[in-house]
Amino acid sequence: MSVHGPRAVGDTEVHPVALGGMLLSIEGRPPTERAVATVRAALEAGATLVDTADAYHAGADEVGHNETLVRRAVDGVRPAPMVATKGGRVRPGDGRWLTDASPAHLRAAAQASYERLGGVGMDLYQLHAPDPEVPYAQSLLALRDVVDEGLARQAGVSNVDAGQLELAVEVLGDRLVSVQNQFSPTHRGTEDTLRLSEQAGLAFLAWRPLGTVRDPGSPVGAAFARTARERGVSVPRLVLAWHLATSPALVPLVGATRPETAADSVAAADLDLSAEELGRLG
Ligand SMILES: NC(=O)c1ccc[n+]([C@@H]2O[C@H](COP(=O)([O-])OP(=O)(O)OC[C@H]3O[C@@H](n4cnc5c(N)ncnc54)[C@H](OP(=O)(O)O)[C@@H]3O)[C@@H](O)[C@H]2O)c1
Repeated sequence: MSVHGPRAVGDTEVHPVALGGMLLSIEGRPPTERAVATVRAALEAGATLVDTADAYHAGADEVGHNETLVRRAVDGVRPAPMVATKGGRVRPGDGRWLTDASPAHLRAAAQASYERLGGVGMDLYQLHAPDPEVPYAQSLLALRDVVDEGLARQAGVSNVDAGQLELAVEVLGDRLVSVQNQFSPTHRGTEDTLRLSEQAGLAFLAWRPLGTVRDPGSPVGAAFARTARERGVSVPRLVLAWHLATSPALVPLVGATRPETAADSVAAADLDLSAEELGRLG
């Protein structure tokens, strides 16, 4: 039994540490067999939520690379893990990340993700990022249609500030179950949206949860390095346990490209930190 119990993402209880699939499909990705083994190692270690996106790919002609990979990795796993995907970003193939959250793009993207993920209602469809060219309310109304038309069961938003989150709650109502923002011990600027998520009963999926903590040259890095040594665990595992102690709404989405790092990170659910340790870690 884990020290940190399951967390709610809308109507689903998930293991508190989730796997993010991005590094398995973008530039520098590992060979496919190792990528699949990495997802499976996370699931075998207990993870029950995998985060993906149609934009997790490298070449312009490989949209949905990561969704297809994740679907292959979770195929036959019972109980079926929750797969959370996103739409609204596009990659032209030259390394850039662009945004297209126009209603027309979102509808087409959601339909394509639905098909890649098996043609059954997607567990969670997230709007990847606000598009400066499109009023946010228009993108949110398109996301609402994705749920109402049965392509996805639940909706999430990502890369939002507090005002955008409040608008999302207003437009999406009960359909909205999660917020995905960058958050880590070295990136705390989004803490206002974490607190809003707690108040609104939303899961807060923290992206890039390890931040720059592994740099032992910084004061934060030094505190984590020392505590990790004392506890005999890896710094990433300690950072993820810090997330779990920070808020009951937090579900860190850890990235990994190796089965052993994926499994090591998921085991953060078993690591309890004392008040003294948490105080030292800040
Ligand atoms: N919504 C958004 O706009 C957005 C943006 C960025 C990311 N994300 C999501 O957030 C996820 C995580 O972000 P990220 O992958 O950039 O950052 P991250 O999780 O903070 O860092 C991933 C790196 O940490 C290493 N690592 C993980 N666990 C480890 C362990 N136990 N021991 C040693 N090393 C370990 C991995 O190494 P190995 O490669 O050696 O395994 C990998 O290189 C993404 O996959 C994606 O799902 C979302």
